Amino acid sequence: MLDPSQRALIKATVPLLESAGEALTTHFYRIMFAEYPQVRPLFNQAHQASGEQPRALAEGVLAYARHIDRLDALGPLVARIVNKHVALQIQPAHYPIVGTCLLQAIREVLGADVTTDAVIDAWAVAYRQLADLLIASEDELYAASAAALGGWRGARRFLLARKVVESEEITSFYWRPEDGGPVAAFIPGQYVGLRLQVEGEEMRRTYSLSALGDGTTYRISVKREPGGKVSNALHERFVEGDGIDLFPPAGEFVLRPGSHPLALISAGVGITPALAMLEAALPSGRAVHFIHCARHGGVHAFRGWLDGVAAAHPQLRRFYCYSEPRDGDQADAQGLLTRERLAAWLPDLRRVEAYFLGPRPFMAQVKRHLRDLGVADDRCHYEFFGPATALE
Ligand SMILES: Cc1cc2nc3c(=O)[nH]c(=O)nc-3n(C[C@H](O)[C@H](O)[C@H](O)COP(=O)(O)OP(=O)(O)OC[C@H]3O[C@@H](n4cnc5c(N)ncnc54)[C@H](O)[C@@H]3O)c2cc1C
Ligand code: HEM
Repeated sequence: MLDPSQRALIKATVPLLESAGEALTTHFYRIMFAEYPQVRPLFNQAHQASGEQPRALAEGVLAYARHIDRLDALGPLVARIVNKHVALQIQPAHYPIVGTCLLQAIREVLGADVTTDAVIDAWAVAYRQLADLLIASEDELYAASAAALGGWRGARRFLLARKVVESEEITSFYWRPEDGGPVAAFIPGQYVGLRLQVEGEEMRRTYSLSALGDGTTYRISVKREPGGKVSNALHERFVEGDGIDLFPPAGEFVLRPGSHPLALISAGVGITPALAMLEAALPSGRAVHFIHCARHGGVHAFRGWLDGVAAAHPQLRRFYCYSEPRDGDQADAQGLLTRERLAAWLPDLRRVEAYFLGPRPFMAQVKRHLRDLGVADDRCHYEFFGPATALE
């Protein structure tokens, strides 16, 4: 337990973490990957190169130091970290590695003037406290996955049952367990972790489940990223019957039950969790406004499916917005998704529950527009297809 003087020491490092937090976490990852190469495959190296993961960790460490007196204020952050960790199978044995490297980075980046023995001791206790909290929450989720009907713990081998091209960039992959058993139910919006070998290197990635499924398969829908290791391997190399390791579903960006009108707003491959959410919401009769933005018809996935669903469900209204339409493309709007368009397409702004996902600039804009239109923050839910960072 941290004593009051240790809490004060942690809080005194907040201004330094504000200015040097990213330098600290960037240095931390450098140390960890050099000293403990066994943890490297857990991490997406693109998120290291872009700085997104060091930034997300720096924001996390800073939030922790700021709220050291009131850890309950960290709730949503903890849930996000725990779910991401669980999808990638972070284990208790990994925590001492991170702790050792983090303390070394604190010492080396913040300098000897600041990092007295007392400060380092305080951070060591604070780290253990946070690690214990995360380990306990992660253990609960691991246990719940193992106990669920069709659930499991750790890696389970799945075989590719079907591969369906959805657009010029997105392909769906249907996975069936090799053991022939059922698969655990999941909450729409959740994702699975994948583990595979690419050019002799182990890689892990998370993909949203893009269909509710029938209890025997999971579907993910993957955009081919130019230069992307896993998405290209899946698109190019995988054929029906090929195997992959899947970790059980996790994620806290999930459809909350309710009767308020639902706005599912997506751009590009951000459509994937919205598809499962839509499938789950339709039987309740709840009004759904499905807004999807794409560059043009060629990269607009699932349009035929969605049009079919809309024809059969009067409570579903869908709108398409193309930023770079090709000749002959038909959309409800052209250009970017403006506030005026959102206002016109979402008539019940005071009651609507909005879920949105897409590239970060798109999400920042949607968040701003929804706020301007009077949609309360607690009715705006969003996910990042990478490490989370502040949208404003
Ligand atoms: C919760 C969640 C859900 C997701 N759901 C989906 C989904 O439903 N569908 C989907 O398609 N994606 C989804 N993603 C994204 C997915 O996990 C991958 O990040 C994505 O497929 C890219 O992986 P990749 O291996 O193909 O590309 P990466 O190898 O990660 O590369 C991504 C980009 O970074 C560049 N890059 C790679 N390595 C380096 C380096 N060392 N230095 C500089 N640049 C580099 C590459 O050229 C490429 O442009 C989701 C992500 C999250 C976090
Ligand atoms: C107290 C300790 C820890 C904290 C505060 C922490 C914090 C975070 C944060 C903030 C994220 C980003 C979440 C998001 O996507 O928004 C993250 C992701 C992640 N964490 Fe941790 N973490 C801790 C321990 C660990 C440990 C012990 C490991 C394993 C070595 C680990 C591995 C990962 C991985 C692999 C990711 C995803 C990175 C990616 O996208 O490439 N973390 N963590």
